[in-house]
Amino acid sequence: GPYLAAAFVLGYLLGSVPFGLVLTFLAGKGDLRKVGSGNIGATNVLRAAGKPIAALTLVLDAGKGAAAVAVAWQWGPDTALMAAYGSVLGHLFPVWLKFSGGKGVATTLGVHLVMAWPVGAACCGAWLLVAAVTRYSSLAALVALALGPVFAWYLTADIQLVQYAAIIAAIVWLRHAGNIKRLLTGTEPKIGSGKRASH
Ligand code: G3P
Repeated sequence: GPYLAAAFVLGYLLGSVPFGLVLTFLAGKGDLRKVGSGNIGATNVLRAAGKPIAALTLVLDAGKGAAAVAVAWQWGPDTALMAAYGSVLGHLFPVWLKFSGGKGVATTLGVHLVMAWPVGAACCGAWLLVAAVTRYSSLAALVALALGPVFAWYLTADIQLVQYAAIIAAIVWLRHAGNIKRLLTGTEPKIGSGKRASH
């Protein structure tokens, strides 16, 4: 109904706010898309503008998805799900950046935390563990999001949530094609290495 469509649009509009790009620019570090991987997410903000701005980007990119889902929840779980899809797709394909946005990791984690907090917490834990061991942000994201549907199955047994986590994971994996190629060829820069990834 109209609430599902409205929730999707609300999610999309919130999700499409490119906090990393805006904050890096406000910090006087120029266009984030011309630095490092060229991505507008927190990992690349760390390369361009340092830890505090990167942390703020992470919180805001996660927060915009979480906020959209939290608002939509008052019309029920189906409406929340539409806001979840909308916010991740808004971050990936923002109309303001000619539909060329981010990779959706922080926003997905924020959305998972509100859709089913144990699933979100487990994914964040997986991200932290893989990042701590390997120092690859992208690998941590790929593992954490791929485990999303697995965690959803074991922690909620809600098939709709499993399906949603699987679809989001597939989309985010596709957006990491360049990272996957670099991981396989050993050229992916590690967190805080200062090395620059190619576009
Ligand atoms: O959040 C995106 C991360 O998984 C990889 O970012 O800038 O290294 O491509 P980046």
